[in-house]
Amino acid sequence: MIKSVLTKINTKGGLLLFNNPNTLYYLIFNKLYQKFISKKTNDEEIKKFLKVGYFKSSINSKKLTKLINEEIHKQYINETKGYFHFDINDKMKIKIKDFINVDLKDLINKFEKFYNTNISIAKIIIKRNFFIKDTSSEVYSNHYHVDQNTFNHFKVFINLMDIDNSKGPLHIYSKKNSKAFVIKNRYKNRNEYNDTELNEDVHINVGKEGDIFVADTSECLHKAGKVEQGHYRDILFITFMAIPEKIDNGADFFYYEKKFPDSVWGKNDNKDVISIAKPKSLRKTIKRFFEYYKNKLC
Ligand SMILES: [Fe+2]
Repeated sequence: MIKSVLTKINTKGGLLLFNNPNTLYYLIFNKLYQKFISKKTNDEEIKKFLKVGYFKSSINSKKLTKLINEEIHKQYINETKGYFHFDINDKMKIKIKDFINVDLKDLINKFEKFYNTNISIAKIIIKRNFFIKDTSSEVYSNHYHVDQNTFNHFKVFINLMDIDNSKGPLHIYSKKNSKAFVIKNRYKNRNEYNDTELNEDVHINVGKEGDIFVADTSECLHKAGKVEQGHYRDILFITFMAIPEKIDNGADFFYYEKKFPDSVWGKNDNKDVISIAKPKSLRKTIKRFFEYYKNKLC
């Protein structure tokens, strides 16, 4: 009885108290984390990440995207599901790891300072979205939602091609505008809301091949845009996770690759790392908070 009441409060409380569809426990976790664990920052990108919820990085990834494109274009592609996960072969893995450990090092270090923990890659996916006829059913996160996890599991989107409106770019609302969308569209969940876009306020992530976009998808409403017939969209997704342990991460950001070998490169099916950002009860959420608190860097 008490458990079911708590579950109800948790699932509805985010919308009721914060106009955000994430769970109440995670939203409170985020606030407490920012108050008691995070470090204050003067960095413009991190400030934007905190306030707005996303930013476009100035880092160039064209060399990497060119290599990935050469490799994925050799693969057999199955369109039947409406999306396709590419295989990431050893050659691609080496280049992606090198790009993350070298080119993204400063960016990740900034996040480590802010989260006051070490950071590891949680998951890497290369995915193609195709045109789908019926967008009322959800095929590839094409309904507005927030990712149901705590905010220290966050995402980087790298365009593998030039992306205009015909390719179904990511649509995302800032933290503030997500609340406005929730109110205006009577948002209840990802399958139950009026779908009136707040045209002035939605950010549509069109851009060039190699562009890098960083987002807190746990608090910003977002969806994959509609791909027009005859088009597709290729994206490299990199998910980062603040580590709730004291570790010696040495020179790379692949702690979880060693700990959970199938998780980082494991398409969508392995939940080892993401489950760290999805504690399943109030008690576990509090426990996770204190793990971060106890193991914070300084
Ligand atoms: Fe999402």
